[in-house]
Amino acid sequence: MIVGNWKMNGLSAPSRALVSAIADGLRATPNPPPVVVCPPFTQLAVLGPLLNGTGIALGAQDCHPAPSGPHTGDISASMLAELGVEYVILGHSERRRDHGELDETVREKALAAMAAGLTPIVCVGESADQRAAGEYQDAVGWQIKGSLPDNFNGIVAYEPIWAIGSGVPAPVQDIADMMGFLRAELTRQFGEAGKTTRILYGGSVSGRDASDILPIAEVGGALVGGASLEADAFLPIVRAAI
Ligand code: G3P
Repeated sequence: MIVGNWKMNGLSAPSRALVSAIADGLRATPNPPPVVVCPPFTQLAVLGPLLNGTGIALGAQDCHPAPSGPHTGDISASMLAELGVEYVILGHSERRRDHGELDETVREKALAAMAAGLTPIVCVGESADQRAAGEYQDAVGWQIKGSLPDNFNGIVAYEPIWAIGSGVPAPVQDIADMMGFLRAELTRQFGEAGKTTRILYGGSVSGRDASDILPIAEVGGALVGGASLEADAFLPIVRAAI
């Protein structure tokens, strides 16, 4: 699975052009993997209809935990579902940073997303300081424990914060070690279900190194930021996942 997180990028004209170029590329790709694009909220109604029949699923970048009510400026999971959204990224390190999102908030959002029929993609990942101090497994382990509800049936994305936007992904061995750790933690927390939870890697994935990252054991795909904003950069990652 290859998920494009557009972050706070994408006005209507370039969004339409990008989706059209990705769809054209997928049509020319035999047996493509599942592909999800996660534009800003403002583009969901614009792009949803354009994705019909392309094999590209629509995702969002957040949702509020409440079904409705006095939450100015927020968007509920059911509002996303109404627009044809199937996936929602939750707990991204940029939201944990910018909005002070706690693990408990992410867990409540995951519950709301699942209640609305969406598949949550819950992000976890350590900071550079935690990596340097050798505290990365503790940090990510606590995020897993606190962010995933007991009935979690979504996707986990491991995104080492220090690799996001750096242009350089985490070393293959670091990714492999953390994927093994995450699988063990998910199995310990959820039993049999934890053995099959899809785990994505995110953090400067590009067409240059996707073929090194995607074959790593337990890697079930990629969560792509910057490289998802250009079809010529995104499609090589999609093709590396076949
Ligand atoms: O959610 C994916 C994102 O955080 C990774 O960004 O630009 O490092 O691929 P980027």
